[in-house]
Amino acid sequence: MCSLENTLQKELSDLAEQGLTRTLRVLNTPCSPRIRMGRQKYLAFASNDYLGLATHPDLTRALAEGASAWGCGSGAAHLLNGHLRPHAMLEEALATFTGFARCLTFSSGYLANLAVTPTLITRRADEIFADRLNHASLIDAVRLSRARQHRYPHGDLATLARLLSASQAKTKMILTDAVFSMDGDIAPLADLFELAERFDAWLVVDDAHGFGVLGERGAGSLSHCGLPPHARIVLMATLGKAAGIGGAFVAASETVIEYLINRARSFIFTTAQPPALATAALASLRLIAESAERRAHLHDLIRQLRTSLCELPWPLLASETPIQSLLTGDNQTTLRLSESLKKRGIWVPAIRPPTVPPGMARLRISLSAAHTEKEVARLIEALQEIAGEIG
Ligand SMILES: Cc1ncc(COP(=O)(O)O)c(C=O)c1O
Repeated sequence: MCSLENTLQKELSDLAEQGLTRTLRVLNTPCSPRIRMGRQKYLAFASNDYLGLATHPDLTRALAEGASAWGCGSGAAHLLNGHLRPHAMLEEALATFTGFARCLTFSSGYLANLAVTPTLITRRADEIFADRLNHASLIDAVRLSRARQHRYPHGDLATLARLLSASQAKTKMILTDAVFSMDGDIAPLADLFELAERFDAWLVVDDAHGFGVLGERGAGSLSHCGLPPHARIVLMATLGKAAGIGGAFVAASETVIEYLINRARSFIFTTAQPPALATAALASLRLIAESAERRAHLHDLIRQLRTSLCELPWPLLASETPIQSLLTGDNQTTLRLSESLKKRGIWVPAIRPPTVPPGMARLRISLSAAHTEKEVARLIEALQEIAGEIG
């Protein structure tokens, strides 16, 4: 082993000592609540396939037909030769669905977030106001922008207002997850918009976990919060979670989208996503709009879980979304709990730093419309049993 590798090995051992090692697990089954890892079957509460669409026959058919008609790869970046008819059709459909003037698609939400913030905020004199619990891709986007950043305590509107009023920056941006990916709570979007208006700031909203799940016909968190599209709002959402496909989009005013097309490096310098994914995403949009029953079932499961888990020794974080986190605190306890569930045939990942702040490790239970009431009851029973053994 060379000395460079030795350094890495030492760091990996340190991670292991702190219970922070991350391991890749191979699933031998498609994305579903019923999975197989190795030969072992598990009931999984781990995916973001909130509506259970990832294996829906309408989507697999649309993907296959899309590949037949349009081939596999797009062959180039959007601005060269890679912007095919399905991409354009998806962007139009997304604009109609979200109510924004125009949309732009990306290969992933990570890339979409890297496109928005560093493109709209470029000067060191500009200022970004970001919720402390924002997703890693928003944090990285801020780093790329080079602007001064203020991280306000999670959901703390009073501090945010104070920071904004003290700011002399010409261009300001409020940056927030709509549904926080590890806590599951919903940002106070209407209040954030009011502050954005008052202090003349952009409001950039990452709705990765709200799109398809919340709001009218699954339109997302803005609709859930009664906030109509507006020129100062830039919305990002992924198509790899509730939509069941992959990729992402930014919805905004005509001017913002035109500006991103001309300036956003993570849009310009990457190959356009395979056109068949756009074809499948179009089919997914239709399904999302028609999925009122799936959403109602999902919300019933959320209620079922919350009513039964409130008496466990670990606090269940306040959340009305499919992301339900049991705050277990330290890494080793969380790993042990996850392992105990695994022994009972249930898979709930242990979320540890740096994904969450130190001391805030948790079991992140992720519900899907594809779960049954019986399956949620099985999870509840297992957690109660483990709590009984520990207590
Ligand atoms: C809040 C949030 N934003 C952005 C992303 C990135 O989206 P994608 O997986 O499409 O890259 C994720 C998760 O993956 C997320 O949870």
